[in-house]
This record gives sequence, C-alpha cells and structure tokens, in this order.
Amino acid sequence: MKFQKVSRLRGEITVPGDKSISHRAVMFGALSKGTTKITGFLRGADCLSTIACFRQLGITVEESDDTILVHGKGLHGLREPAAVLDTGNSGTTTRLISGILAGQNFKSVLNGDASIQKRPMRRIMTPLSQMGASIRSMKDNDCAPLEITGSPLHGISYPSPVASAQVKSAVLLAGLYADGETSVKEPAVSRNHTELMLKSFGADIRTEGLTATIRPEPVLCGMDILIPGDISSAAYFIAAGCLVPDAEILIRNVGINPTRDGILRVAKEMGADITLLHEKNTGEPVADLLIKSSPLHGVTIGGDIIPTLIDELPIIAVMAAFAAGTTIIRDAAELKVKESDRIAVMTENLSAMGCDITATDDGIIINGGRPLHGALIDAHLDHRIAMSFAVAALAAEGETEIKDADCVKISYPGFYQDLEKLYDM
Ligand code: S3P
Repeated sequence: MKFQKVSRLRGEITVPGDKSISHRAVMFGALSKGTTKITGFLRGADCLSTIACFRQLGITVEESDDTILVHGKGLHGLREPAAVLDTGNSGTTTRLISGILAGQNFKSVLNGDASIQKRPMRRIMTPLSQMGASIRSMKDNDCAPLEITGSPLHGISYPSPVASAQVKSAVLLAGLYADGETSVKEPAVSRNHTELMLKSFGADIRTEGLTATIRPEPVLCGMDILIPGDISSAAYFIAAGCLVPDAEILIRNVGINPTRDGILRVAKEMGADITLLHEKNTGEPVADLLIKSSPLHGVTIGGDIIPTLIDELPIIAVMAAFAAGTTIIRDAAELKVKESDRIAVMTENLSAMGCDITATDDGIIINGGRPLHGALIDAHLDHRIAMSFAVAALAAEGETEIKDADCVKISYPGFYQDLEKLYDM
C-alpha cells in the first residue's frame, strides 16, 4: 500500500474498542454464570482468536455488528477441546488462556502463527508450574505450541521479574482455581484491566501498590460491558494530528486508564497540543481527545512509565523522528519480544526514511528533526509497525510503500479507511 505526504488533516473519528479489554470481556464472561453482553468489542483478528478458542472450549458466543453475547458456564463449565486451540497472532490470548487452562480437569494444546511460536512463554510457565500446573513447551524451546494438562493448583506469592499484564493476568486467572490466595508483585505497574474487570464480575481481588492478590473460587456473574476506544489505536491519530501541519482531529471515546495513558503524558511533554474533553467513567475512564498540529521536541523516556506506553513506542519513535533534538527511549527491552523485534524493525525502517536512529540494548536513540523521505517499509507482519509508518509517510517527502500493510487487521481492520477520511475532507 502506498502513501504520500499530506498538508491537512481534519475531522472526527471513533477508534475501535480496546483490544486488551475485549479479550478479557470474552474470557471472564465465559467463566461467569449467565450472559455477558459486550458493546464496543474490537472485531480484530486477535480478539476473534479469543472467541474461537472459547467456542472450542464449549462456550456459545453470539456475534452481531457491535454486540457480542457470551453465554458463560461458570468457573468449572469449560469442556475439553477436540482440537488444538489456535491463538493466531495473539500473545494476550495465548498467555491469559494458559492461566485458565492450567486449572481445568482436562488437557489442551495451544498454538499460534509463526510470530507466536517465537514469543517467550517461559515467563508464564515458571509461575504456573510453581502453582502446580503441568505446562510444557512441546518443542522444548519455551515457546508455543504448549501442552497444558489441568491440575490442582496452589496459591503462590509471585515476584514477577517483568512488568507484564499478560504474566500478571495468567497467574491471577490460575489463582481463581488455586487452594488459597495468589498474589503477583510487579517491578512497575502494568495495565490493570484484569483486576478492574474481574472485580466487577464478582472476584475477590485487591491491589496494594505493586501487588495484586486474588482469592480462589468466586462465583462470577455475567454482566454488561461497555468497551472504550483503544488508546493504542488512538495513538496513531494523536501522532498524525501533531505531525501534519494543518491538523485538528477529535478522537471520541478513548480509554484513558492511568496504566495506559503514558502516550498522553509523553506527547504533551514533547509539546503536543492535546485537550481532554467530556471525561467520564464507564467501568474504565474515558475522554474525547482533541489534537492540533504542534511542533515537537525530543524527550527521555524510561522507568515506570514504560509499561503504560509499551505498545505506543513505535509511534512515539516516529514522533521523535520529526521532533527537534534527541529522544532517548530506555528500559524498553520488552520491545524485542513483541509481535516483531520492535527495536530492530523501527531502527531498520526509520533509517530507510533518512532518520538518525541507533538501536540500544533496551531502547532507541533518535536525533530528530531531519526531513524524512519516503521508502519501502517492511512491517514484518507487525500491525503496530504498519500503522506507525502509515503516519510517518504523511509527514515525509515523496512516496512510502508499506509491505504486507493488511497486517493492521490484528488490532484495527479499518485503520487505513479511517486515516484517509481525515485527509480527504
Ligand atoms: C497486553 C499486555 C502487554 C501489551 C499487549 C497487550 C494485555 O503485553 O504489550 O499488547 O492485554 O495484557 P505484556 O504483558 O507482554 O507487556
């Protein structure tokens, strides 16, 4: 797909539902008694993988345009799958479902696409094994395919070496089936959608500082869930609004949970003109975001803010490429184990566009402000890389072509159409 520089972006958009929250709504609905009605569900490939897995586990899920009905069967109502559970490209599906499957009384095998088969699963295998789970990497390489034989589980206190909501959630979900309390302490706070949503379904879960603790065997009750727009998807429009010279964009109904809002904090520090309007709480805090073109400057990003913007670092790197001065991203080694090695892939592609960028062990250093030119971009089948470079292209001279651009279907199937609407106006 090809892109050109644009001089004006105007209009309003509503980004699709939050990916992390969509996954959890289906999973927790499946483990509840009664029906869960989900509005604003993200119909991206990752969340559809979660639905497909739970159907294989015996859960009826009805899909219509904007509403999903999950007919839950309670904590012990899942049935043994007849075939391998296909988690597609989705790390969230793979890791969270592993926590649930560890506590069942049947065996399951999980596998996904080529990217999933390279992503580290030792990080969930270690704590789940400590709980008594039987979980095996079938190729003995700490990656999927995983064979999980449901077993009696014990509560543990797990000091997680990594700030990862997927690890935290896998352990807490296994904790639903344990013989006592389970807690996870993280080195920095990661997204807390599991804690917020499980509590509203009726779980006995609490958070104190960096530690989340759950008690086993609650009765979870189906409920109505309204999913806000995904701030990780809004991030591309925040960046586009800043970088294109004559821009004013209103992004409606975006989730601004403080464990996810690092992009807003960093963009404002870089000089972005962002106004939050109509703030409210619908189980998660949401707001409309008004973005206007702004000259940006470089910043240093590291420490505890990293988990709150981990998925936004590729688009932040694009903003940094156009910002005056140096941007240093550090403490972000996790970028290497996402859908692609995002340190290497951002460095390769931004260099191709003429950016002065250096990869480091745990991040990137960008000397921004040079004019960038169009290039052939290899997104390495990573949705967030493709979307980041579609935005970079709007501010670069000449033509940019993105290879395998349709990988955006993982989290934002209508992304290019939504972007085009803003510059066609
Ligand atoms: C997610 C957690 C993050 C994030 C991913 C979604 C989640 O991963 O990068 O896109 O829904 O829990 P980690 O837990 O591996 O940091």
